[in-house]
Amino acid sequence: MNDEILPQYDVARQDYSQKEKILLGEMRENLVDLAMSAGENYHISEEKLLNDIKNFLFLRLNENHVSDEYLNSLSGKFLRDIIGYGEIDSLIQDDELEEIMIIGTGKPIFVYHRKYGMMKTNIQFSDEQEIRNLIDSIARQINRRIDQESPILDGRLVDGSRINATIPPVSPDGPSLTIRKFKRDPLTIIDLINSKTISLDLAGFFWLCIDGLGVKSANAIISGGTSSGKTTTLNALSAFINPNERIITIEDTLELQIPHEHVIRMETRPANVENKGELTMNDLVKNSLRQRPDKIIVGEVRGEEAITLFTALNTGHSGFGTLHSNDARETITRLTNRPMSVPKIMIHAIDFIIMQNRIYTPSGVSFRRISEVAEVVGIEEGTVQLNTIFKWNPERDTIDNIGITSNTLTQIANLSGKAINELYYEIENRKLVLKHMINHNIRSVEEVNNVIELYYKKPQKVLNNIILNR
Ligand SMILES: Nc1ncnc2c1ncn2[C@@H]1O[C@H](COP(=O)(O)OP(=O)(O)O)[C@@H](O)[C@H]1O
Ligand SMILES: [Mg+2]
Repeated sequence: MNDEILPQYDVARQDYSQKEKILLGEMRENLVDLAMSAGENYHISEEKLLNDIKNFLFLRLNENHVSDEYLNSLSGKFLRDIIGYGEIDSLIQDDELEEIMIIGTGKPIFVYHRKYGMMKTNIQFSDEQEIRNLIDSIARQINRRIDQESPILDGRLVDGSRINATIPPVSPDGPSLTIRKFKRDPLTIIDLINSKTISLDLAGFFWLCIDGLGVKSANAIISGGTSSGKTTTLNALSAFINPNERIITIEDTLELQIPHEHVIRMETRPANVENKGELTMNDLVKNSLRQRPDKIIVGEVRGEEAITLFTALNTGHSGFGTLHSNDARETITRLTNRPMSVPKIMIHAIDFIIMQNRIYTPSGVSFRRISEVAEVVGIEEGTVQLNTIFKWNPERDTIDNIGITSNTLTQIANLSGKAINELYYEIENRKLVLKHMINHNIRSVEEVNNVIELYYKKPQKVLNNIILNR
């Protein structure tokens, strides 16, 4: 560990004037009255609430001749104060934060910043009850409860962020809250190339294999540790799926943001209080097979759904999934042992095991790399055979092609009746398209998706445009 003091993250505290404080108080009371009189039927729509606040302020401040700007900005602040997350609201709003950590009273709230790593904020709670109130209000928002009997709350906020809260007796020193934030503007394949998580070569290669030229689209498991960026890489690679394919995604909590038009998103459901109505990952994977999918994407493979998924892959469907493990070999071990118990003979259905790694530097900032791409090539004497085709070189920080011809590429060549060199040529073309996006800062999900979709429809036109614009 470094013994330097952590960098500071300062939040501009909400400083209301005396008059504004009074107005906020009045506004709150009004709302409580409104909610009480409407009873069960009271639903807050953010838009309507903002309007109500504006009207209220307009009437109350009418004779002061305040500007529209002031009115709007104050209304916005009030709205955040009323339906937001109070003290930590500005942390929740900051897309540059990966995590928010509340560890108790008298200690600062910590945040993990995408650029600067771990930081201390200038926010502290002095009273345990304040933290409890925050946790309770979050629990209410998602229709859950946290109490002595069930002192752990694990769930997802409306904005997609994951929360985990604990209270005594599991955390005897007091309540804790960890928020793993959902990135509103997701990282795309272009971002991942720019940050060297993936190389341009590897991205071009994956594009061709995931497309499969209409004869065989590659299946992949993305493996790695917690928070290594598995879901992010899966999401970014999904952009390469042919826009004609019908995609079904299955997740415990909705995280994937796949830009394609033809997507059905499915989410598991826990049992209700009477222990009924549970829908497991496996139920949903089974059901997806009746939905005529081209591509099945399973957010996180960890239980019996693994066999169902592999059965699907062995019967001509294609799919992606993430899995928690530390290296390619361990991925196989985990898949073939309890609780996943996929028969070894079925493992062959995956083409790639993509290892995702998070590397910490002494300064506390971390970066992510695809550290290995292995192909499943067969079984010999009861052992699944793996061929590493790409590997990250930590000294040079490059992802090197090991020089073995990819089995997947050979299959695509055979099935499409093309020479392997023609495929390499096509990979180069696709790298040109990716390079073009990098050079022109085309990086958002929509922009990247548009270019890829256009390339699928009119490859020559896209290439000509790129060459003309050079
Ligand atoms: N390649 C990357 N570069 C920078 N940040 C990343 C990268 N991959 C993931 N992240 C960030 O790390 C956090 C965890 O990523 P996620 O993909 O959910 O990890 P996992 O699925 O392995 O648990 C997210 O906030 C995400 O935005
Ligand atoms: Mg994940």
